Amino acid sequence: MMARMRCLLLLGLFLRVAVCSVSNTTQCDKDEFKHEHLCCQYCSAGTYLINPCQKNHGTSECAPCDSKHFIDHKNREPECFPCSVCRDDQEEVATCSSTTDRKCQCKQGTYCDSENCLEKCHTCSSCPDSKVIRKCNATTDTVCDTFDSKPVLSGHPHFCFPESLNNVVITAAVITVIAAVIAVIAAVITVIRKIICHYRKKDKGAQNSVTGVNSGEKIQLCK
Ligand SMILES: *[C@@H]1O[C@H](CO)[C@@H](O)[C@H](O)[C@H]1NC(C)=O
Repeated sequence: MMARMRCLLLLGLFLRVAVCSVSNTTQCDKDEFKHEHLCCQYCSAGTYLINPCQKNHGTSECAPCDSKHFIDHKNREPECFPCSVCRDDQEEVATCSSTTDRKCQCKQGTYCDSENCLEKCHTCSSCPDSKVIRKCNATTDTVCDTFDSKPVLSGHPHFCFPESLNNVVITAAVITVIAAVIAVIAAVITVIRKIICHYRKKDKGAQNSVTGVNSGEKIQLCK
């Protein structure tokens, strides 16, 4: 009985030691990373890793970021990241530091609503001041009140029915186009007739001088 208990105690002790030694090397703190058999502290933001620690849970050798470079979180990076550069159509709204990237946004009067604005900035839409619902800023275009026009128009009986007004305009345009086409066709026919008659008269004139016979009806059409 005693021997058995002793055995269990020994086993428990062994397990505890085993678990502890394993956890010491495999389970690092959240501020640490695993390097070979050691847990090493991360480098702080604004610095990058030169050498991992030499003893367990020790501090690592870190160096500050070079100029125009940054890292905004704890890390074990071999170097810092280069800061963004603003494009010509952008302006800087946050400077580059060792712990923060430079921030750029579209210049006044332009906007870019895509995630990282990889395309050019677009010119803000414009509408009369009274119809601006939301002003344009660097990330969203102007929002205009497009429904505002209805109550304004309803005050003038003649412009009450924009749809029928549209129909009138379309009808007028169609009639104009048809008239223009007819006019062009008429002009072309006139020119062709003149040319034909010109030569026919010449022909008849020549014939008449030879035969002395009047040319008759056909030449009447050409008068
Ligand atoms: C632009 O306006 C929108 C909507 O009002 C807002 O969500 C956004 O943060 C603004 N952007 C800037 C850069 O001010």
